[in-house]
Amino acid sequence: MTASIALTDLAAQHREIEQDVREGFERVLASASFIGGSDVGEFEREFASFCGARECIGVANGTDAIELILRGLGIGSGDEVLLPANTFIATAGAVHRSGATPVFVDCDDKYLLIDPDCVRSRLTPRTRAVIGVDLYGQIAPFDHLADILAGYDVAIVEDAAQSQGATRRCRPIGAHVAAAATSFYPGKNLGAYGDGGAVLTDDKELAADVRALANHGGINRYDHRLPGFNSRLDTLQAVVLRAKLRRLGCWNEARRRAARRYDQLLEGANSIRRIPAAPGNMHVWHLYVVRVRDRDRVLAQLHESGIAASIHYPLPLHLTDAFSWLGHGPGDFPVAEAASRTIISLPIHPHITYDAQARVCEVLLGAVG
Ligand SMILES: Cc1ncc(COP(=O)(O)O)c(C=O)c1O
Repeated sequence: MTASIALTDLAAQHREIEQDVREGFERVLASASFIGGSDVGEFEREFASFCGARECIGVANGTDAIELILRGLGIGSGDEVLLPANTFIATAGAVHRSGATPVFVDCDDKYLLIDPDCVRSRLTPRTRAVIGVDLYGQIAPFDHLADILAGYDVAIVEDAAQSQGATRRCRPIGAHVAAAATSFYPGKNLGAYGDGGAVLTDDKELAADVRALANHGGINRYDHRLPGFNSRLDTLQAVVLRAKLRRLGCWNEARRRAARRYDQLLEGANSIRRIPAAPGNMHVWHLYVVRVRDRDRVLAQLHESGIAASIHYPLPLHLTDAFSWLGHGPGDFPVAEAASRTIISLPIHPHITYDAQARVCEVLLGAVG
């Protein structure tokens, strides 16, 4: 029996940061500042500086981060927010929770990123924002979106849950948009030991509103400017994130090396379509996704060989039960639909070995025939 190959390896990451985390946890336990402890502020400063953003607000998770941005922009009931049909359901869930209506758009066939031409065709007088998703670890075409939206009063928001450390035309996440939301779900490139998220923005006013909304509507205790809710980043999670942030550059570089190795190992295999980095993008390969015919059979063969490949995501959002009330059906977003039938995410993480990747490719190449 061959050893199994996991999609990601959080234990290997923990081994690298164990000492920092233990010392940090001791510090927090000694101070008993479990909410709003100094590590939260330090992490916010460090992550803002890493991303070149003026403001970073730590929040409870990535979904809240998107919702808080929309609410901070004054978007809600009666408004429409455009987003790609091929994203994790949280992107649409956050729009729905803000009170606005999610409006799906298709993706392009090469990078599977939001298609700016489809955005143009879905604009209405009620459109207030477009959310581009940095799917699989590369930044969406925000420059093209900005060209299309010039002259419209429509905010551009980035779902950067999968792209911490990525750049587009040398500019990091958050730099192309009104605000970016990210997630520190454990499996992300920068993951916590539980839930966490952040908002990045250069807009001081928006940052102040987001910070207030996430803290019961006020910065100071019992001074509630707005009806808000509780969405704070825990101090213990901030300790983990500070330790991981120090290694994120190296870990992303290791992911890029692993992606190059897959590219080489799969070179010339005509029945496997790879999803390249778009020109100008420095990809951070949160996921390495390939497209194959007869996907379910190929995936089953990978699983039988102990390879934990996966699908991100099996159903475009317009075909989910959760958003059936929007009235869409098969054929409405054909590129996203075709992608969902053919994609497979191969194991990738900073500690994956050449041998593991070679084994994945051996099984994959055998399965596609
Ligand atoms: C693209 C995308 N958007 C939003 C989210 C939501 O993040 P969270 O799980 O932290 O709420 C995720 C994370 O799973 C994601 O991958």
